[in-house]
Amino acid sequence: MGKLDGRVVIVTGAARGQGEQEARLFAAEGARVVLGDVLDDAGEALAKELGEDRAAYVHLDVTRETDWTAAVARAKERFGRIDGLVNNAGILRFNELVSTPLEEFQAIIQVNQIGCFLGIRTVAPEIEAAGGGTIVNTSSYTGVTGMAGVGAYAATKHAVLGLTRVAAVELAGKNIRVNAVCPGAIDTPMSNPEGVDPAATAELYRSLVPLGRIGKPEEVAALALFLTSEDSAYITGQPFVIDGGWLAGVKLF
Ligand SMILES: NC(=O)c1ccc[n+]([C@@H]2O[C@H](COP(=O)([O-])OP(=O)(O)OC[C@H]3O[C@@H](n4cnc5c(N)ncnc54)[C@H](O)[C@@H]3O)[C@@H](O)[C@H]2O)c1
Repeated sequence: MGKLDGRVVIVTGAARGQGEQEARLFAAEGARVVLGDVLDDAGEALAKELGEDRAAYVHLDVTRETDWTAAVARAKERFGRIDGLVNNAGILRFNELVSTPLEEFQAIIQVNQIGCFLGIRTVAPEIEAAGGGTIVNTSSYTGVTGMAGVGAYAATKHAVLGLTRVAAVELAGKNIRVNAVCPGAIDTPMSNPEGVDPAATAELYRSLVPLGRIGKPEEVAALALFLTSEDSAYITGQPFVIDGGWLAGVKLF
C-alpha cells in the first residue's frame, strides 16, 4: 500500500530538482502524477521513465493561464480527476535591492508568486470536484526571514506563505488542505549556479547550517509527501521549515 494510492497530483517544475524528486516519490507511493514544466525534454523523459500509467508530462509555464487550463484538461483526460497540487516551480536571481532591475523583480513575482496563485485558482475547484485533497506550496527559508542578495525572491516567498494561509482558510470547508514547505539550502541546479566551486559551497554550508550540510531534494520530497498524504490530515495553513537547523540560530562552532 502506498501513501498516495488512488491520488492524482500535479507537480509544477517537475523536470528536475525538488519537483523531480517529488514526482518520483509520489509515483512510488501510488499516485498518478502530472509533471508540469517548461523544460520539455527533461520532463518528457522523466514521465517516460515513471511509466505511462503513472505519469504524464505537460508543458506548463506557471505564469500562463492558458497553460494551466490545458494542464488541468490533460490531467483529467489521462487520469480522470485531480486531487493534489504541488506548486513547486520557482526561479532565483541574485541582486541587491538597489541594483535590481524592475523587469527582474517582476519576472520573479510572475513565476514564484503569480504562478502559485494561478495554480491554486485553477486547480482548487478541480480538487473540490474530486471530493477534496491537498495543495502544497513551495516557499523558502527566505519566506520566513531575510537574506542579503535575494530581495525579490524573498518577497515572493513571503507572499507564498500569505497565499497559503488565506487559501487554507478559504478552502478548508471544501475539504482541501493547503500547506507550505520552506526549504533552506537544497542541493539542486538552483543552488549550484554555474561557476560556483562545489567545495566552497560545501564548506559554506558546513559552517552555516547546524546539521553541517546542504539538504537533499529527496528530503524536501518526503516533507511534501507528508503534507499530501493522510499523515497530515489535521494540518492546514502552515509553513514547514526544512533547513538543517539554519533558522534555529547562529552556529558559532
Ligand atoms: N534549492 C534550494 O536551495 C531552494 C531553497 C528554498 C526554496 N526552493 C524552492 O524550491 C522550488 C524548486 O526549486 P529547485 O531547487 O528544485 O530548483 P530548480 O531550478 O532545480 O528547479 C526549478 C524547476 O522549476 C521550473 N520552472 C522555472 N520556471 C518555470 C515556469 N515559469 N513554469 C514552470 N516551471 C518553471 C524549472 O524549469 C525547473 O525544472 C522553487 O520554488 C524554489 O524557489 C529551493
